[in-house]
Amino acid sequence: MPGVLVTGGTGKTGKVLVQVLRNAGVQARVASRNPAAADPDPIRFDWNDPTTYGPALDGMDRVFLLPPVESVDPLPLVEPFLRRAQRAGVQRLVMLGSAIVLPNAPSAVEMAAQVQAQPGGVVLRASGFMQNFLRPHPLAEHIHRLGEIRTAAGDGRLGWVDARDIAASAAALLADLEVDARSDYLITGPHGMSYPQAAQIITAQTGRRVRVERITEEEQAAAHRASGMPPAFADALAAVERGIKEGREDQVSTAVLELTGRPPRTFAEFVSDHAYEWTQ
Ligand SMILES: NC(=O)c1ccc[n+]([C@@H]2O[C@H](COP(=O)([O-])OP(=O)(O)OC[C@H]3O[C@@H](n4cnc5c(N)ncnc54)[C@H](OP(=O)(O)O)[C@@H]3O)[C@@H](O)[C@H]2O)c1
Repeated sequence: MPGVLVTGGTGKTGKVLVQVLRNAGVQARVASRNPAAADPDPIRFDWNDPTTYGPALDGMDRVFLLPPVESVDPLPLVEPFLRRAQRAGVQRLVMLGSAIVLPNAPSAVEMAAQVQAQPGGVVLRASGFMQNFLRPHPLAEHIHRLGEIRTAAGDGRLGWVDARDIAASAAALLADLEVDARSDYLITGPHGMSYPQAAQIITAQTGRRVRVERITEEEQAAAHRASGMPPAFADALAAVERGIKEGREDQVSTAVLELTGRPPRTFAEFVSDHAYEWTQ
């Protein structure tokens, strides 16, 4: 029976996407390096093991594609997967990409172009995830331990989006092949927000005092490396903060409303839904 292969199906976005699809009666296959025996349709899938690509795609006519994470050059692994997907007859392929193009990662643009060249290929360019404010993300761990956000982004704003809204947007495109799809969507929350504004909202709503420590890009890169990120990825992520600080990433769209029929969640709603994170 045709259905949706959800790569990254155990992650923040993929897990919600699987739930939404299954609630709508759509078959969703959860791809994971460690497939859960209790899941109704699990499959072993590892980007580093191309022999897992074919069995994962077998019988599927749609794919949610989460490229290899924490990599500045995912294309060499994604390219053969795309060829296989096309041979397998996949009719819609929705990739979770990023609104921000990582510096030193030129293949991201080429990868998006290759996805869009696939039958039914769609790229979701997602803004920063509000879920970065939840543990175990290093940003959230720091808030939890020290009541502090360390950032090189200054007062620059980003159109933070709730991963649940990304999942709902992807579900709208994957549940029904009859739905018209563009090849590119910028997926954001309802408005731009800086780190100091985020700190204010958390403090006002939960009583947890959060202050902002302004650091340099080099200090940010060192902190990312210390949290265990691959060095090239840590440096690229720190360089992103310069773009945010300079206002280059301050953009919002209406794509979530267009795709799901309801506006994206605000950061205040997100904080309210996860208040336990800052009150325990
Ligand atoms: N955080 C942000 O602000 C932000 C903004 C824009 C875009 N993004 C993009 O969003 C993506 C992360 O999405 P997410 O937060 O929903 O995921 P996540 O919660 O970080 O989970 C990562 C997923 O990737 C899977 N995975 C890891 N290594 C794998 C491998 N070698 N082979 C196959 N699967 C592997 C994991 O599955 P298993 O462990 O079960 O194998 C898991 O399902 C990243 O690509 C990032 O670039 C993030």
